[in-house]
Amino acid sequence: PDAAALTAALLGWYDRHRRVLPWRAPAGVRADPYAVWLSEIMLQQTTVKAVVPYFRTFTAAFPTVRDLAAAELDSVLRLWAGLGYYARARNLHACARAVAERHGGVFPGTVDALRALPGIGDYTANAIAAIAFDVPVVPIDGNVERVLTRLHALEEELPGGKPRLRALADALEPAGRAGDFAQALMDLGATICTPKSPACVLCPWSEPCAARRRGDPEGFPRKAPK
Ligand code: ADE
Repeated sequence: PDAAALTAALLGWYDRHRRVLPWRAPAGVRADPYAVWLSEIMLQQTTVKAVVPYFRTFTAAFPTVRDLAAAELDSVLRLWAGLGYYARARNLHACARAVAERHGGVFPGTVDALRALPGIGDYTANAIAAIAFDVPVVPIDGNVERVLTRLHALEEELPGGKPRLRALADALEPAGRAGDFAQALMDLGATICTPKSPACVLCPWSEPCAARRRGDPEGFPRKAPK
């Protein structure tokens, strides 16, 4: 299947089934980089359901990245209590201060400048660039790995197959809607292309999916035997 047809099918599905989440802007509106960054940090190792109330509390207490930068670390850690992985909260605060000091309180819009900030790795830099700035990059997290290794029935095991997966993701070309495309992949992985018993009958990529054609979607991603 060609990249344009795959992209169109997934974006069409997203337009019909897009989940409403507090960090997402309405359809057609670009999201606030601060909201996208905050949600992406919170969503590392934590489910969407658990994150939503914390996201609301944080944005009420700190409406902008400048407010977060001006806060005491202790007050940030207090609001973080219950989310776990407290290094994330410390990095969150350090990142807010870096955005305030290095960038005048405005999130930079390139992958490289985002990647240089505390607590922002490759995945998060790509996610913010795509979702908040429509930079044409595809962030690859565990959900997206599952979707794409199934689509292509990628035989290489992860993590060794990551460069090949990156090339397959880059070939998809999200056609001016990088943010929607990234979040469509995330939603597809979270709600349809699940680790166990994926709902292939509901999937916009069911027809082109090589793993489904083989009758073995759960067999991907391939994993090295323990
Ligand atoms: N998981 C990580 N980032 C996400 C996002 N922006 N929307 C939904 N799930 C996600």
